[in-house]
Amino acid sequence: MPVPAELIGRIERLDPMPMTAHRLMRVLQDDDVGPARVASLVEFDPAMASAVLRLANSGAYGGAVRIANLQEAVARLGTTRLVNIVLGDSMQRLKAHVPMYGLGEDELWMHSAAASLAVRALQQERKKAGIPEAAAVAALLHDIGKLVMARFLKADVQALLARSAERGITFVEAERDLLGCDHAEVGGALARHWGLPDEVTDAIEHHHETPTGTPTVLRDAVVVANIVAKTIGAGLSAEGHNLHVDPNAPKRLGLGFSSFSRVCVQTMTSLEDLKASYGKAA
Ligand SMILES: [Fe+2]
Ligand SMILES: [Fe+2]
Repeated sequence: MPVPAELIGRIERLDPMPMTAHRLMRVLQDDDVGPARVASLVEFDPAMASAVLRLANSGAYGGAVRIANLQEAVARLGTTRLVNIVLGDSMQRLKAHVPMYGLGEDELWMHSAAASLAVRALQQERKKAGIPEAAAVAALLHDIGKLVMARFLKADVQALLARSAERGITFVEAERDLLGCDHAEVGGALARHWGLPDEVTDAIEHHHETPTGTPTVLRDAVVVANIVAKTIGAGLSAEGHNLHVDPNAPKRLGLGFSSFSRVCVQTMTSLEDLKASYGKAA
């Protein structure tokens, strides 16, 4: 189902999330802020990470090779320019929550960060699976479409839940029914519009579908990372567990029950550490 061009056309970029902006401002009081430090700050913020990657890959700054690595992106942009962009944007950040999904912005951030951390846990658990680095970025951005839909499409969570219950369909199918597109498609369309690498776009776009084409390790990792985030209760949203995913994705990664459980525990631990570093209650 194509995403309405009007929807894409209305979005130039998403503003960064406030927690990261605040943290960045604190760090800027230090004298020496290098790309590695800045990259570590934007790493778990979907809107900001996507803005950085989009800019670094844009015509103005892009080299011949597209990059999906945040530190390289920060280095390409230059720390000062990046910081100015980020802080300028943060001033205009929308304050709205995401009522359509029963999620506050912090919860969406938490869910996205958990998915990204889950990819890292998966990489550790299944070293032989060859999960690429870009999978962590794709996991971070996988639900970015929700921000867009919540801001630009009018639908309330109760209507989506009611449609889902009436027709016995998933939450994502209810989105398509009521809104003409779903958040995965919208996220994919945005990622493409921003010029993110194809494999990142593909994973965002298909994280709720049983793949019709040849599945990739990156996409499988994102599909499983989303499930891990939901399993540990990080940003369940109104969708909860009412979703279909490719049941073979864990199998292809060589993940059984015990290894999946270990990945969940590791993700939970990492998420607690991350929340603590952002000054949030664990
Ligand atoms: Fe999703
Ligand atoms: Fe998700």
